Amino acid sequence: MKRIPILIDTDPGVDDFFCIAVGGAFSEIFDLRAVTTIGGNNYTEVTTQNALDILSFLKVDAPVAAGATRFLTREFDEPAAKFHGSNGLGGLAIPHSPNKASSLPAWEMMYKVACECEGELVIVTVGPETNLALAIQKHPDMVGKVKKILAMGGSTTFGNITPYAEANIGNDPFAAKIVFESGIPVDMVGLNVTHMCPTDEALFDSFKKDARQDVIDFMRGLIRFRAFQPILHDAITISSLVDPDFIQWNVCNVHVETEDAEHFGQTVMQSGTMHRVAVGCEKERYYKVFENMINRYR
Ligand code: RIB
Ligand code: CA
Repeated sequence: MKRIPILIDTDPGVDDFFCIAVGGAFSEIFDLRAVTTIGGNNYTEVTTQNALDILSFLKVDAPVAAGATRFLTREFDEPAAKFHGSNGLGGLAIPHSPNKASSLPAWEMMYKVACECEGELVIVTVGPETNLALAIQKHPDMVGKVKKILAMGGSTTFGNITPYAEANIGNDPFAAKIVFESGIPVDMVGLNVTHMCPTDEALFDSFKKDARQDVIDFMRGLIRFRAFQPILHDAITISSLVDPDFIQWNVCNVHVETEDAEHFGQTVMQSGTMHRVAVGCEKERYYKVFENMINRYR
């Protein structure tokens, strides 16, 4: 089977750690071409170092390119320390990577990889979509070069930064609007589905584990840190590429609200056939992917 070339655009981030871990684990499925970073869970300089550290820790080889240091129309907020710890990784110590980020900014790395992959690239975006919007604005021909965007973001029901807006979309709705209206098909996995698949410590302990002890300990530490809300949104999202049928999708268009103040950043399904929005999932199948992922880190 031909491997899927992927680029992960991320703001690590507790659940982003597990997304990168899935992307790095299944090397027979994924050709991980690059990791690009954005601010969200923490500032871009922190999420960039975290991405470098995570890849080194997991012994996954991929270039890292740092992304935007502000959203399209405003500065970043404070780090989301409650959900990701002061360092973005639950306050846990991780060895400092000797590697450095690429000299290319994230949006140029996206474009370069898209050109190299000749229409096959899948961009997995699990943070605010600012880098993607910049890549599309700077290189309009990106649209024909990317096969699909797989996005953790939005919701068909409740939000998490406002009653209507989810963080990745709500932090930069203008960027998300550019992405959803670009002509690139998006598979959107929102809060309505990620909340169906909690990964708590009891579940983690029930998995059969034959992996590096430091990796198991770090994963358990992250999951323990998130005991109050054990939803690993970004890992669930990328897992839909490993087991393509565990999520049920609704084919539709997606409107991102940028005008109404109360609904600012809300994603609304509309009639059309441009995108797919996750509306259900079989969580046991996701857990199988997760357990399998752990055991790739021997
Ligand atoms: O709303 C959940 C999303 O926001 C996840 O990607 C999490 O990592 C944060 O970025
Ligand atoms: Ca994220």
